[in-house]
Amino acid sequence: MRPHHRTLRLLGSLLLLAMGVSMTGAAPAQAASPTPLDRVIPAPASVAPGGSPYRITRGTHIHVDGSRAARRVAEYLAAVLRPSTGYRLPITDRGAGGIRLRLAKGPFGAEGYRLDSGRKGVTLTAAGPAGLFHGVQTLRQLLPAAVEKDTVQPGPWLVAGGTITDSPRYGWRGAMLDVSRHFFTVDQVKRYIDQLALYKINKLHLHLSDDQGWRIAVDSWPRLATYGGSTEVGGGPGGYYTKAQYKEIVRYAGSRYLEVVPEIDMPGHTNAALASYAELNCDGVAPPLYTGTDVGFSSLCVGKEITYDFVDDVIRELAALTPGKYLHIGGDEAHSTSHEDYVEFMDRVQPVVAKYGKTVVGWHQLTGATPAKGALAQYWGLDSTSAEEKAQVVKAAQSGTGLILSPADRVYLDMKYTKDTPLGLSWAGYVEVRRSYDWDPGAYLAGVPAGAVRGVEAPMWSETLEDSEHIEYMAFPRLPGVAELGWSSAASHDWERYKVRLAAQAERWDVLGIGYYRSPQVPWGSDGP
Ligand code: ACM
Repeated sequence: MRPHHRTLRLLGSLLLLAMGVSMTGAAPAQAASPTPLDRVIPAPASVAPGGSPYRITRGTHIHVDGSRAARRVAEYLAAVLRPSTGYRLPITDRGAGGIRLRLAKGPFGAEGYRLDSGRKGVTLTAAGPAGLFHGVQTLRQLLPAAVEKDTVQPGPWLVAGGTITDSPRYGWRGAMLDVSRHFFTVDQVKRYIDQLALYKINKLHLHLSDDQGWRIAVDSWPRLATYGGSTEVGGGPGGYYTKAQYKEIVRYAGSRYLEVVPEIDMPGHTNAALASYAELNCDGVAPPLYTGTDVGFSSLCVGKEITYDFVDDVIRELAALTPGKYLHIGGDEAHSTSHEDYVEFMDRVQPVVAKYGKTVVGWHQLTGATPAKGALAQYWGLDSTSAEEKAQVVKAAQSGTGLILSPADRVYLDMKYTKDTPLGLSWAGYVEVRRSYDWDPGAYLAGVPAGAVRGVEAPMWSETLEDSEHIEYMAFPRLPGVAELGWSSAASHDWERYKVRLAAQAERWDVLGIGYYRSPQVPWGSDGP
């Protein structure tokens, strides 16, 4: 280290010490040392520590550009900071210093940002509000975990000095929630959205229909929701989202810069629809509602015209409720549909998605039919998936189909961690924390052109999951790792370093009431539950 730097660092330490003593009195000196700029998940693209930290005080203002979107991000930040700091933190479009959210042209992309921290203030700069929002998540993680509390805490509220320049590796960083096998309320979904936002996840894929339940109101086929949504795995009461409730989920997700990707799974996984309308069945007889956990036994009737009236109505109504670009049509495990019927069905249904202005996403079995131009296939295979099936996916990717990677033996968040995990399934094996993190989406399927990989997604199937506590135990600590695979460069992947950053997140989860799996692979501190 050059002497100049050593001097600066010494001065910085003395300053910290002085502030810790003069401002907080009782606070232990250790609490006054700010979180290093690189102790963040997902790992930022570039970190240049240095200079004095910034301290949020009673006098701090949040300065924003005039834009309404930037102001909303400032309000979100203020809502995180005000309860725990006890400060007013007024939002203003005048003045300098303090916390500043700035929109400016620069090499940030749609979601990137720069964070500059020094004695006079912290400035987040981005090309758009999504970048500011992701920068706010970084700022949150740089502050002590106690900042998440809803009662006034002593602080001090220090942000380490230096600069972070950051932007994502992939545009698709998703999480899927299966609200069909068990229904989750709007508030439960919002709670998960808030957790996803903390790690810069930007897609919320909602699995809205399956054999066990239809979860979205469709005006032209009302029994889908009122009857098809009336139960769930195990026989509980199920439920569905009214259109207003679904719109509220979309709005809330949007306020956290997540795009909702709704899925209607077809032509298999359709027992709830088939039970609701006898005419959708080839034999004209409605099967009973189903509350078990088998798969592959149901199919829409590919040879009947009414099937396509049904699909058109459902897609039209759902597309009209959904501002996002994508509509997921499932297509997995159609074991009760012949291959010919499957291909014919997908040939007829994909243009309907396009007609209503959306881009098709399907599970990777869609590559066994003819994916529409621009369609994305979501790969959910395992190491043990046959070479033939993998080759079909690779071939589609080489022909222009984009891929979202969700290998089940890596990122299915409903897989048990070990044989002793009380929740979850194990058909894809046990998935410990290291296994879910330690792979490269860009190199996962040999022969796939780099540009075909659009990102990663962590599905959460809910056969065994009934409430937020269950969701969180399965998501944490694996979810932040998937988020990092989607955001951070391949070069930054390093389990030994990652696990230390991961352990440091636990204190924040404790404050947020997130109960997580204390994997023996992670060096948790001694102060956990
Ligand atoms: C799936 O797990 N059936 C996509």
